[in-house]
Amino acid sequence: MKTIGVLTSGGDAPGMNAAVRAVVRTGLENDMRVVGIYNGYEGLMSGDVAEMNLRSVSNIVQRGGTVLRTARSMEFMTDRGQEKAADMCHRLGIEGVVVIGGDGSFRGAQALSRKGINCVGIPGTIDNDISCTDLTIGFDTAVNTVMQMVDMVRDTTESHSRCSVIEVMGRKAGYIALYSGIAVGATSILIPEFEYDFDIDVVERMKKTISTGKQHFIIIFAEGCGDATEMARQIERETGVESRATILGHVQRGGSPTVNDRVLASRMGNYATRLLRDDCTSRVVAIKNDTIVDYDIEEALQMEKEIDIDIYRMAHEISI
Ligand code: F6P
Repeated sequence: MKTIGVLTSGGDAPGMNAAVRAVVRTGLENDMRVVGIYNGYEGLMSGDVAEMNLRSVSNIVQRGGTVLRTARSMEFMTDRGQEKAADMCHRLGIEGVVVIGGDGSFRGAQALSRKGINCVGIPGTIDNDISCTDLTIGFDTAVNTVMQMVDMVRDTTESHSRCSVIEVMGRKAGYIALYSGIAVGATSILIPEFEYDFDIDVVERMKKTISTGKQHFIIIFAEGCGDATEMARQIERETGVESRATILGHVQRGGSPTVNDRVLASRMGNYATRLLRDDCTSRVVAIKNDTIVDYDIEEALQMEKEIDIDIYRMAHEISI
């Protein structure tokens, strides 16, 4: 009987549990043994694992976070760490591992594949910044959370005729900012992918809308774009509109996953496990035009993800 493991690695994302559940259930249904590996690659190196049965993953499909817990392991980045993990796999009889995480986690999966352990990656990150896939697990929930939070902030922003600068997650990726910005009707959306001019893209826009009668403003600001508090100060100075910064922070990573994330995670978990059943290795599962597909990890890591400029332009045009 083939034994496979499943782990979650990097920043957690809502829907990871639905993916773990799908891996466990698919594995067992296909006559494999499945072990859950705790704390990502850290747990793989130390052998922190538990045998999973059908009931081990009951009642988790609706839960945020990851029941397997997660970590960003420095040791596993080294060749010694990877050797240690591969040895542990041999010792525990683990022939394949499903790795749920982001780019960094996939690099780890690729390294482990080279050490003879079959690995398949599933994209799980709220940032939606994995090139080979249209969507990552957790993104839909995160943008819905941001939307709800900003809707709440807007109530007070409007009552006080203020400007709210809302900082959302995304150091290098502006997907959360762009999509939530469209959904809340932000006056300006600032993302790390495109350079912005503070005077033109924020001050001028605000002044233009003030002249049409607008009295309150929402500016969505990806964390990779600088300091939201400082921007709020600058806006107040330049426009005279009282301004406040709200940093949403880790609230964006939590909460019960949306339908879209649960379904996406279930499909990807099922597909990834079937790949391992069929002895595939060094693959990443992705969704393209609503079809689940897979790529070689190397190829997937080399792809470039670009934010759709038309969506960005559209947001700009209708938010005035
Ligand atoms: O990659 C997901 C993410 O939430 C990013 O959006 C954010 O920049 C980062 O993780 C935060 O990481 P940490 O939880 O380690 O502060």
